[in-house]
Amino acid sequence: MKILLTGGTGYIGSHTAVELINRGYTVEILDNLFNSKITTLDNIEEITHTKPIFHQIDLLDITSLDRLFKENKYDLVIHFAGLKAVAESIEKPLKYYHNNITGTLNLLHVMQKYSVAKLIFSSSATVYGDQDGVKLTETNQTGLGITNPYGQTKYMIEQILKDFSLANPDFSITILRYFNPVGAHSSGLIGENPNDIPNNLMPIIMKVSTGEIPELSIYGDDYDTPDGTGMRDFIHVVDLAKGHVAAINHMQKGVSTYNLGTGKTTSVMTMVKTFEKASGQSLPYKIVPRRPGDLAKVYADPSKAERELNWHADLTIEDAIQDTLRYLSHQAH
Ligand SMILES: NC(=O)c1ccc[n+]([C@@H]2O[C@H](COP(=O)([O-])OP(=O)(O)OC[C@H]3O[C@@H](n4cnc5c(N)ncnc54)[C@H](O)[C@@H]3O)[C@@H](O)[C@H]2O)c1
Repeated sequence: MKILLTGGTGYIGSHTAVELINRGYTVEILDNLFNSKITTLDNIEEITHTKPIFHQIDLLDITSLDRLFKENKYDLVIHFAGLKAVAESIEKPLKYYHNNITGTLNLLHVMQKYSVAKLIFSSSATVYGDQDGVKLTETNQTGLGITNPYGQTKYMIEQILKDFSLANPDFSITILRYFNPVGAHSSGLIGENPNDIPNNLMPIIMKVSTGEIPELSIYGDDYDTPDGTGMRDFIHVVDLAKGHVAAINHMQKGVSTYNLGTGKTTSVMTMVKTFEKASGQSLPYKIVPRRPGDLAKVYADPSKAERELNWHADLTIEDAIQDTLRYLSHQAH
């Protein structure tokens, strides 16, 4: 089976590439390298002894995309490519709508034209909007109370995929709603390394630990949670990557949607303390006001994926932090 990963040199895509290659799939990667590095391909090769074929293409460049699909027969596409920085999406909404929505429309055009009828899409827990403190199941309402253009693009793409599926009943489309991916590959060779200022907690913690960022800002310690900081469903990126393998094995016609999370929550402060304990280093932090739109507690009900995909998250926060430290020490050498 030949699989194209859009955004495959990125954080989640590169870990998924490793899991797929290890299971004998042929993987090709498309990326414009906006938020990832070409050297990731060497690191994937070091782990798997296979270097995926790479196409440096922007999804907005429909001519190059069409040529790629004309010249190659893919069995399935996993669509990771997208911009994901929440704060930047509020400042530059058009950039986000254009890249994420138009990029997906272009991809769907060529998949339809060349009859590549299997798609897995990277969605996000953000589509559940402002539902706070409830275990989120796939049947919960989506699209209400989304507070940023990034989240809107995920919700809109889900709607586009549903409409596209109605008109193209031969397509099998799986929407995976990720919760909060953290960690790195246990080899320390691949991990999260955004090209610009990171937005997610763990890359910021990493940059604080190396001194690149002077201190961590914790947005609010007055939430209704045990230590007052926000709680999230942090999922190890390797578990997440394995969720894609499970999804490939259970593709069905129409649209299927799954949460990929652990069902457990960990507070921001617990993440900081666990990182400090594992690294033996203290992390300077300051408590700053809450960010508009942030919720107290967001977590998944992952039971549908467990039941139907036969998948569940195995790794712990401690594993994620150990692997992150290994990745950091690899970066330093
Ligand atoms: N990391 C998270 O916290 C998280 C949570 C939920 C959903 N997601 C989604 O999962 C997907 C992957 O996330 P990630 O964390 O690996 O991000 P990432 O930024 O590391 O990877 C995305 C990749 O897509 C590429 N890309 C972006 N726009 C492109 C375009 N127009 N053409 C070609 N390549 C393009 C980037 O260069 C990058 O390599 C994204 O769609 C993201 O929105 C991520």
